[in-house]
Order: sequence, then C-alpha cells, then structure tokens
Amino acid sequence: MNITTPLKEYTMSPSLFFLLTPLVLLFIIKRFSKSYKNLPPGPRPLPIIGNLHQVGKNPHVATAVLAQKHGPLISLHLGCKLLIVASSPEVAVEILKTQDRFLSSRFVPDALRIKELPYTIIWSPDCNENWRLLRTICRNEMFSVKALESQSSLREKKLTEMLDFFSSRKGQVVNIQEALFATAFNTLSNIFFGQDFLDLKDESGTASVLKEKLFMILKNGVSPNLSDFFPVLKWLDLQGLRKQNVNHLKEVFDSWEGITNERRSAAGSEKEQCFLDRLIECGFSNDRINIFAMELFIAGTDTTTSTIEWAMAELLKNEKAMLQLQEELKHNIKSEISNLPYLNACIKETLRLHPPAPLLLPHRSIQVCEVMNYTIPCGAEIFVNVWAIGRDPKLWEDPLLFKPERFLGSNLDFKGQDFEYIPFGAGRRMCPGLPSAITSVQSILASLILRFEWVLPGDQDPLKLDMTEKFGVTLQKEIPLQLIFKPLNNHI
Ligand code: HEM
Repeated sequence: MNITTPLKEYTMSPSLFFLLTPLVLLFIIKRFSKSYKNLPPGPRPLPIIGNLHQVGKNPHVATAVLAQKHGPLISLHLGCKLLIVASSPEVAVEILKTQDRFLSSRFVPDALRIKELPYTIIWSPDCNENWRLLRTICRNEMFSVKALESQSSLREKKLTEMLDFFSSRKGQVVNIQEALFATAFNTLSNIFFGQDFLDLKDESGTASVLKEKLFMILKNGVSPNLSDFFPVLKWLDLQGLRKQNVNHLKEVFDSWEGITNERRSAAGSEKEQCFLDRLIECGFSNDRINIFAMELFIAGTDTTTSTIEWAMAELLKNEKAMLQLQEELKHNIKSEISNLPYLNACIKETLRLHPPAPLLLPHRSIQVCEVMNYTIPCGAEIFVNVWAIGRDPKLWEDPLLFKPERFLGSNLDFKGQDFEYIPFGAGRRMCPGLPSAITSVQSILASLILRFEWVLPGDQDPLKLDMTEKFGVTLQKEIPLQLIFKPLNNHI
C-alpha cells in the first residue's frame, strides 16, 4: 500500500496557505479588537467559519431559535462578518428609532456592489442625497394618495385582465403565483413604462427572460457569498455572483433602453403620461431610470405576490375566516375597499405570520453605538427578525393561529409606529411602497373572493394544505398554491 498518496492530499498547497493565513489573522484581530468587546451574546463561533454552520437555509428560524437561548439581541460571526440580530420589539425600537441615525445604512452584498449601480435606493449604502431624492419622488409621484388615485383605472384594467384569465381557465388547475406575479409586474410596468412586460397566458416569451434576470439579480444578492464572509477574497469573486449580476443588469437595461429613448423623443406629445415621463422631465439619465425601475420591480412584485398567495392559503385553511370575509365583501360591495375591517384584518394577520422580508433588509452600522447596553461596532450587519417578533407567544395569543379578529377594534398598524408589528420595517429605511402594496393586495384578494369559489385540486383537504416556507428572495410558500377557480355570480 502506498501511504504517501493520502499524505500528499492533506499537505497544504502554497496557494491555500496564502489564502488561509490572512483569514486566520483577520479572524484573530477582529475577535480581540476593542470594538468587539461587550458584543451582544451569541453562540460560540468556530475558528474561521464562525457561526456559518448555525444559520442554515432558514436564517429567520435559526436566529429565532438562537434568540430563545441567548436573548433578543444576538451576535453571530459569519466568517469575518459580524451579524447582529434583534428579535423583540424593545430592541427593534432601539435599532429602528433610537439609533436609526447610525444604523440605517445598508449592508450592500458584494454581488450588488457594482459600478453599474451608482444611484440606488434599496442598496444605497448611506442615506445620501440621491437616496433622499429617490424616496421623495417615490412618496410624491408614485405612492401619494393623488398618485394612487391617478393609477386606479390602470390597476383596475390589470385586475380585470387577471380575473378574465382565471375565468378562461375555469375547471383547470392554475398556479396562482404565476398569474399574480404577472399582474403585479404588469401593473408596475404600466405605471412606470406605460406598457405590459409579461403575458398572463404565455410564460415562454422574451418578457419572462426579463423576469428571470431580475429575479437572478436579487437571488445572487441574497445568496451566501464567500466575498461577504471574507472580504479579503472579494476581488476574486469566487462564486462569480458579481460577474453574473453585471451581465444580468446589462441585459435588463438593454431591454429598457429602446422604450426610454422612444419616450424621450415623444416628450411633449399627447401620449398618456407615465412615471418614466416624469423622470425624463426631472432630467434623469437612462442609467438612473433603469436602476430605479429595476429596484422597484425587485422590491414590489414578489412581495405583493407572496402576500396574496399566503392570504389565500390561510383563508382556505381557515373556513370560518373565509366565510366571515365573504360575508363582509358581499354586504359591502359598493363600499370603499380600504374601509373594510375584516379584509384589512386578514391582510394584517397574513403579514404577521408571513412577512415577505422576515429579517427586513440588511442594515449596517456607520458608527460604534450602544443598543441595550451592548456595543454595536461600526460596519456590523444588522437584521430585525420581524418573523420571530410576529410569532412571539409573549406578544400574541395563539401566535401560530390565523386569527384576523385580533386586529379588529385594535389600533395596531404596520405603519412603523408599533414595533411588535413591523412587516414593512420602520424608520428611515421603512418600505416606501406600503400604500401601493396594500392597495394591490386589498383589491386583488377581494376580487378573487367575490368572483370565484376556490377549490383545491384532487379533493385535497384544505386543513392539510402544506404551509412550509422557503426563505429566498422573499419568504415564499415552498409548494406553490394551485387552485381551480369556479366563477360565482357576484359582480364588483
Ligand atoms: C406586501 C408588500 C411589501 C412588503 C411587506 C415590503 C416590505 C419591505 C421591507 C421590510 C423593506 C426594508 C425595510 C428596512 O430595511 O428597514 C422594504 C424596502 C423597500 N421597499 Fe417594500 N415591501 C412591499 C412592497 C413594496 C412595493 C410594492 C414597492 C414599490 C413598488 C416597494 C419598494 C421598496 C423600496 C424601494 C424599499 C427600499 C427602501 C430603502 O432602502 O430606503 N416595496 N420593503
């Protein structure tokens, strides 16, 4: 037997030695540096990888479990990266309100740290002037009461198209996620670009390539990446995520270039105005427009879709809630939809149990500060586990049950003031798309209930509907909801 072969395999190659030595040194320097004293508690990290092995595929669940052991503010070491996770309303107030000034920067994943993205809103590392401008434009031109009113006929049109699509598929099994997504996507593409991007009936066209690319950009951004865990390796982009994103971005931006140029040359014509025209008037370059559009599509479509899908799944499982909602809608068919208490309670309850962004988006500290008497070093990545807060038995009675009535007669709202319930975040980085998201969810959910009876295929028992979550770009239902729609005679 040749014993030299296995030995040879275990001898460290010079390149591996040069790779690992800086990592070990960095690990040691960080662990014993002054700003790393008095960190929030957490599980003991292993050398080099830290707590990477403890985060797993569902970090919102893993960190909620760790919080039960170590308390509502924990620190984790992912390679060289320090992660701070908050899991109680008291800590969330400190992070998103008291220390918001120091903690509302973004941690930008390496896959999105690319020169093609200079003017972003979501991934703006600081709350800088450009970020402020984009938020103001969102607030005034896209999501204000006036803007939403002006979008109402367009939203109605996209909703009708979706309802007609489901009617045309009567008796057939439909994957509702795809149709909901196409509706959310086309609503936004019409508001922004004045045209449809997806075909409800045809998923194979070039438009679905656009959807795929946008999805991949964000997926690469949220995927575990060695460049984030070990910044010394950044330049190597070992998993190629940054490189892939540069290519995806180019393809997406190229596909929009023609539309923008056309609108530029048609400026001042009688054509119906869209958001793009406003941006052109404000002097936005094509690059800036592309980036803004890309971010709104990424932030606004999957989140809205998954909220509606989860609401439908919960209503199917909870017959009593479904019947109560059907009654409310039937008896108030002419009422303002935003004033229907049970509908709104169902939406709130869905967002409590299934927040699309269970850890919000990653914040970053720009200065050493104190939270709950612990030190948060500069540059730490910070998450607030709103999923864990929403299921905390100390805050919610029967936390795992879908009970919309808990919100009836209660002032508890998701507008960022009640820290036990913050599915849209709070503070400076709070979601600017909230009014648009809620308008879409209300109208789509109400219409689907009024127009159809929902039947699970194959005589499935609704009580046994699988509710497993999949953590990814948003918190999705792992097994997409499939339904047969039977048209009813109600009219909206
Ligand atoms: C149910 C639907 C939605 C939910 C639950 C949701 C939730 C969130 C959350 C949790 C954040 C991060 C907050 C933080 O980091 O502290 C966020 C950010 C953001 N959302 Fe939403 N969102 C939804 C829909 C939308 C829509 C429809 C749009 C626009 C079309 C949108 C645009 C944005 C933008 C631009 C940001 C980044 C804000 C910033 O970094 O300053 N969202 N959203």
